[in-house]
Amino acid sequence: MDLGLKDRVAIVAASSHGLGQAAARAFAAEGCKVAMCSRNLKAVEAAAEEIRTNHGADVYYEAFDVTDASAVQRFVENVAKRFGRIDICVTNAGGPPAKGFMATTVEEWKRSAELNFLSVVYFAHQVIPHMQRNHWGRIITITSVAVKQPVPDLVLSNSVRSAVVGLVKSLANEFGKDGILVNNVGPGYTATDRLKELAAARSKVTGKSEQEMFEGWAADTAVKRVGQPEEFANAVVWLASERASYVTGQTLLVDGGTYKGTS
Ligand SMILES: NC(=O)c1ccc[n+]([C@@H]2O[C@H](COP(=O)([O-])OP(=O)(O)OC[C@H]3O[C@@H](n4cnc5c(N)ncnc54)[C@H](OP(=O)(O)O)[C@@H]3O)[C@@H](O)[C@H]2O)c1
Repeated sequence: MDLGLKDRVAIVAASSHGLGQAAARAFAAEGCKVAMCSRNLKAVEAAAEEIRTNHGADVYYEAFDVTDASAVQRFVENVAKRFGRIDICVTNAGGPPAKGFMATTVEEWKRSAELNFLSVVYFAHQVIPHMQRNHWGRIITITSVAVKQPVPDLVLSNSVRSAVVGLVKSLANEFGKDGILVNNVGPGYTATDRLKELAAARSKVTGKSEQEMFEGWAADTAVKRVGQPEEFANAVVWLASERASYVTGQTLLVDGGTYKGTS
């Protein structure tokens, strides 16, 4: 299937590792020009270099924190200068700490809102005018299965990410007339560093080993295994493609059937 993505310019935020890195790779494999970022310069540089080498893609990268609104603005300006346009923006960030409600602090609530909600606002503000200019755009937010089914001990993630769903629907409604499609993708348990961190945190609370945590998560899916980052990235790339041209305002879970509900 031709996804129609050749020479599109795709920003993938928080992409030196994990789901973001897999998405950046998958866009490069489809012939996109890719712009990447993360806080650690060496890490994002290495991820960009790997994509250039393996896919011959034109890759731009910067190191900054996605909670810094002016850094996001500078980055988007630099990407537009470098590539001449912006077609696709995948928002992403690290996850908030794993905790029950009474263990959380006000500072952690503020930080989580900045990390997993306001960072999406910052990117959307900056990329939408570029997309309006070409009457074509895709904004894809990475959240979590938690937006449909709250995850134990992830009260910060469960709460803050739901605001992204409201934002996605609002942006889809407001900017569909400009050819901009806005969707949310919710990963389930996917084998990345973040999942290892969660296994370690849950293991401390439950007394189970990290391996038992992974086995428990696999058992909780319909397909009886955790996902691979590439499986998640395939869904992101499809949503950004011409083949998903009538899909907007949706949340697509890539969770191997972890979510048990029907809508
Ligand atoms: N993996 C899962 O099973 C799963 C399930 C549900 C939801 N999620 C969510 O999906 C998102 C991505 O998860 P992942 O598994 O890919 O995590 P990961 O493997 O830990 O990778 C996170 C990436 O984000 C970058 N990053 C983190 N905070 C950043 C910030 N403030 N500014 C810029 N870059 C930042 C990291 O690089 P630097 O450290 O260099 O900044 C890294 O490249 C997270 O929000 C996670 O909570 C993951």
